[in-house]
Amino acid sequence: MFTLIRLVTLASIAISLVDGKIVPPAAQGQPDANSQVDTTGATTDTDSIVSTASQVDQKAGANTDAPPDLPPNSTSITALDGTLVNTTVEAVATNTTNSRRSLNLAKRLTPGYEQVFAGTGTGPDDRDGSIEGTAYLTYTVVDNSTYSVDKCLEFCDRVDGCVFVNLYYEFNNPLLDFVFSEKSNLKCAAYADVHTAAEKTNRGGQQQEDPPAGLTYIQQSSGYAAKSLVDPDTPEGYELVFGPTNGANNAPGYMGFAFLDRYDVQACADLCNSRGADNQGGGCQYFNIWRAVVNGVPTTYTCSMYYLVADESTAVNFGQGDLHVTQSRGYRRNNVVVDGGFEGYNDCNDFCFTSGYASWKGLGSGVLDATIFHYVIYSHSGHGVGLLGSADASDDLPGTLTPSEPLQTVAGKTYSLQFFLNSDFSGPDLQADAFVEVRVNGNVLDTIHPGYSHWTFHQYTFTAQGNDVLEFHGGKAPAWNFIDDVNIFLA
Ligand SMILES: *[C@@H]1O[C@H](CO)[C@@H](O)[C@H](O)[C@H]1NC(C)=O
Ligand SMILES: *[C@@H]1O[C@H](CO)[C@@H](O)[C@H](O)[C@H]1NC(C)=O
Ligand SMILES: *[C@@H]1O[C@H](CO)[C@@H](O)[C@H](O)[C@H]1NC(C)=O
Ligand SMILES: *[C@@H]1O[C@H](CO)[C@@H](O)[C@H](O)[C@H]1NC(C)=O
Repeated sequence: MFTLIRLVTLASIAISLVDGKIVPPAAQGQPDANSQVDTTGATTDTDSIVSTASQVDQKAGANTDAPPDLPPNSTSITALDGTLVNTTVEAVATNTTNSRRSLNLAKRLTPGYEQVFAGTGTGPDDRDGSIEGTAYLTYTVVDNSTYSVDKCLEFCDRVDGCVFVNLYYEFNNPLLDFVFSEKSNLKCAAYADVHTAAEKTNRGGQQQEDPPAGLTYIQQSSGYAAKSLVDPDTPEGYELVFGPTNGANNAPGYMGFAFLDRYDVQACADLCNSRGADNQGGGCQYFNIWRAVVNGVPTTYTCSMYYLVADESTAVNFGQGDLHVTQSRGYRRNNVVVDGGFEGYNDCNDFCFTSGYASWKGLGSGVLDATIFHYVIYSHSGHGVGLLGSADASDDLPGTLTPSEPLQTVAGKTYSLQFFLNSDFSGPDLQADAFVEVRVNGNVLDTIHPGYSHWTFHQYTFTAQGNDVLEFHGGKAPAWNFIDDVNIFLA
């Protein structure tokens, strides 16, 4: 079985070991570089979120010159990592392939509304204001031969995400009076969040029609909110971790935030999916979405992203100054790989290794060519880590690490494979020939030649067939390669 060439190779490895330079992993040798990485990173930058919330203006209503019945615009982003912007989720999350848009803060179980506030009368001196608030969707005009509350509520039923309407008369707007075909000045504006009379800040006052016509003014501005609200749909590829509560996460592994113009859980998931990876911590695995209410008025919708999964225990930021956190929910990204961090291998407290346990197995034609170690020093995070290359330097054959069971993937869906790779154990010269093939169902996604390198993040996308088989194949002792924190997420 062993050829002459093999024996020569083995002999040369043995010599380097006799020299005492390289003690192999199986003998608890120490890596060339103790490249400790900070895998917890920064915690939530609440100050930046609060100060940006004081600058952002997301208030809107039915403009005097907008025609009725426009389709609502898709969710937009008003701030990104502390900078005010004006862009759409689609423009930022360009590489999200599976996402399905669906709104919102909440949706109705059954139709049914209650009045939040009433309007003024219709006397010649009565003056009212229409709502300028967050999460404006669109408006229509309803029959003005009577004060058509029901027609307005029916409109809300038809608009995706609508939970609140503001019904009011707008006078001296020539577009309503003469141009638009409906010939009605009774406006019904739909919102994806509930507003109060304190937000009746549009008092008219525009000269829209030539004098002697007067300035625009508003009367009988009333508001109606949906009575029964349910949880928003959980985005595909995610699960709800907590919420709704009045506490935002203050948690490690923070990757930044975006402000959304409405409470759109799917939009936040899209942003998490497309967030550039942190080179120490990896891809986005968790997000926290919450509504900021300033002095009682909904102001913005924060989407905070993390590469570590958080939970309710750190959702302890209830606000700051006039800003209160409401409707806070946390969602984690489902990892298709069972125990991708090799943390389930616990046969010892400190140092041990195996060629397989419940979640992973190591395969190879030589001796210990693919193994799993329990040893903090070798791991990227936690204490478990996979190793490619003969653990005791018996041979220089590659090994294969693969999950014990096929992946529970959905055929046809696009997935993102993410992991960390280390190639520094034996120093620059001996690591030069290192290689790792990344395979799914036997197809090589990539052959990595990492040379001498510390923990590095790698990411690939693939289309699943269902029951997919993931394999890491490589290692060429003493050019050993460690693999850790393997995640496969819906892309
Ligand atoms: C959508 O956005 C465009 C551009 O900002 C604006 O002109 C239009 O009125 C918006 N649509 C609605 C329904 O508000
Ligand atoms: C955002 O951009 C659109 C299109 O460029 C523009 O119509 C709109 O007025 C902008 N909105 C804000 C708040 O700047
Ligand atoms: C209904 O709206 C039209 C168009 O603005 C206006 O001319 C008319 O006077 C309004 N009718 C009532 C009863 O308010
Ligand atoms: C999506 O695009 C961003 C920015 O271009 C990139 O950093 C990220 O790695 C991409 N994500 C995936 C899953 O391809």
